[in-house]
Amino acid sequence: MSNGDDRGIRTYVLRAGRMTDAQRRALDMLWPRYGIEFDASKPLDLEAAFGNANPTVAEIGFGMGLATWQIAKDHPSTNYLGLEVHTPGVGRLLSDLDSRGIANVRVLRHDAVEVFERILAPSSLSGLHVFYPDPWPKKRHHKRRLIRPGLTELLASRLAIGGYLYFVTDIEEYARWSLEVLSATPGLRNRFESFAPRQEWRPETKFERHASLDGRGRWELLFERG
Ligand SMILES: C[S@@+](CC[C@H](N)C(=O)[O-])C[C@H]1O[C@@H](n2cnc3c(N)ncnc32)[C@H](O)[C@@H]1O
Repeated sequence: MSNGDDRGIRTYVLRAGRMTDAQRRALDMLWPRYGIEFDASKPLDLEAAFGNANPTVAEIGFGMGLATWQIAKDHPSTNYLGLEVHTPGVGRLLSDLDSRGIANVRVLRHDAVEVFERILAPSSLSGLHVFYPDPWPKKRHHKRRLIRPGLTELLASRLAIGGYLYFVTDIEEYARWSLEVLSATPGLRNRFESFAPRQEWRPETKFERHASLDGRGRWELLFERG
């Protein structure tokens, strides 16, 4: 396991991923409404970004955003901050937000680690969703994992007291690793003895659908900042 000196190593590789015309159009037209530009010169003002002081839940790596908009639609008095670097997915989410009239989501198309490090205030989140993060299975790539020693302290520090971190994966080894790393992160405590049951309010993500079609399992973790 890495010793936490790996800040600056990206947790993703930008895929070329072609954008459909609809995704491109959505990005061009809807970005002003839902998008937040990354600006390292000042802290992110969540109240101004959402136009209210409701609690905010962040999601790192929303992919195509299928779970993002459904959760936001089901919880209209919570704000959702989606973080993703994959542009076609951003276009897809904006289009879904617009067609469904969902107003409580904002999107930052930027490295979430930098967002957490540089512009997100400590204790500013009521929750954090990490659904099917890239597992980086090879040992030499473990330092790229989003759940890793050194980085989980940063993630935890942005949660308010009582705020939760909800992690789901289809890779058992990453699940066990994450259980160990999160359990050892100061300030976090497991809401369950070990793995968590599926949270009924969580819809299926695109990666989850592929995983279940391929017959892979699912492991969930639910921690909170104490
Ligand atoms: C395996 S996909 C899962 C997508 C989605 N959550 C799902 O379950 O379908 C992981 C996603 O995390 C994104 N990602 C990884 N590291 C990121 C980071 N540091 N900032 C923003 N997005 C990131 C990748 O671009 C990718 O789309």
